[in-house]
Amino acid sequence: MNKVEIKPDIYWVGGIDWDIRNFHGYSTNRGTTYNAYLIIDKKITLVDTVKHYLYDEMMDRIKAVIDPSKIDYIVSNHVEMDHSGSLPRLLEIVKNAKVITSTRGEKGLLRHYKKNLNLKVVESGDTISIGKRTLHFVHIPMVHWPDSMVTYIPSDKLLLPNDAFGQHIASSERFDDEIEWGILKEEAAKYYANIVMPFGDQVKKALDVVSTLEIDMIAPGHGIIWRSHIPEILKEYKRWANYESTGRAVIIYDSMWGSTEKIAKKLAEGIAEVGIPVNIRNLKTCHISDVITDVQDSKLVLIGSPTLNNGMLPSVGGFLTYLKGLKPRNRVGFVFGSYGWGGQAVKEIQKILESLSWDLPFDSVNINYIPDEDELNNLKNIGNKLGEYIKK
Ligand code: FEO
Repeated sequence: MNKVEIKPDIYWVGGIDWDIRNFHGYSTNRGTTYNAYLIIDKKITLVDTVKHYLYDEMMDRIKAVIDPSKIDYIVSNHVEMDHSGSLPRLLEIVKNAKVITSTRGEKGLLRHYKKNLNLKVVESGDTISIGKRTLHFVHIPMVHWPDSMVTYIPSDKLLLPNDAFGQHIASSERFDDEIEWGILKEEAAKYYANIVMPFGDQVKKALDVVSTLEIDMIAPGHGIIWRSHIPEILKEYKRWANYESTGRAVIIYDSMWGSTEKIAKKLAEGIAEVGIPVNIRNLKTCHISDVITDVQDSKLVLIGSPTLNNGMLPSVGGFLTYLKGLKPRNRVGFVFGSYGWGGQAVKEIQKILESLSWDLPFDSVNINYIPDEDELNNLKNIGNKLGEYIKK
């Protein structure tokens, strides 16, 4: 099994999940990895583990470096089972190993595994010497769980931040200079939008801490390791944490008989006419985890649905449930739809966007049955106005 020495005596010993295409509802089109790191020092330390079904793969990689029973410490930076899932089996082999975790990590691990795990709880700012190296622990609550913690090794200028800075990419390459920046940025953006977006304020605090550390490598819990694009990824994280967008627009909708689709396309025509790039996302064909990434990237977000049974289409309802949970801020919104009678969908969507405190500068459009020529021309004008509005 390939082992990869990322720093002298520090090895990547994770697992590659080539097949996963759905990570608790997030479409992982490029698969993912669960990264674990083995530090050979006086006290042999493993930082994080892998999802349970990649236990053997992780163990083979560890065995390529040392006898796993020699592990003294296992750092659990984060309780979620993609990182802690192999802990119980590993502890059957390394019975005396201490599991180092945060205060909230202790609670989480005990609730997950319900047995004695020989835990050593560290507070934020605590350090542990493992020989030549000292491990520093910093809690980063809600980036993205209450237990989340990073491990920093000053002597190696190495940050092990678990989920932060991750991307879902399965690859044999381990470093950011071995994969195109465009792919990395796309996957890091999708990861941030789907996992980290609600916690912008906490991310800003974590970035403030990171800015005080000397770092030349960031080795996250998923995907590739950053060593050549650290300034670029920190810059993106800062932008995302501030809910900054590009000057794009995205139109998100579903349609029953094509009227809402006609409205969507006419609005798009008007927006593009004034020079604003626009994506059209039909919820019948686009996955919500991709659509939310468009929302992260777009200043202007238009959402449309026809009325079905006095409400919106379930696909639009599902997307809005996701959107409400991820709470993107600072967006300009617009709502549209069509109806035969009733027409409640538009009001319902409007209410949800208001609850996000988005700027909704223009009245929504709700068209009876099928838009006529005048209505279509008017929609193009509204598209023009929306496009001009976000240029301000
Ligand atoms: Fe990669 Fe929050 O687990």
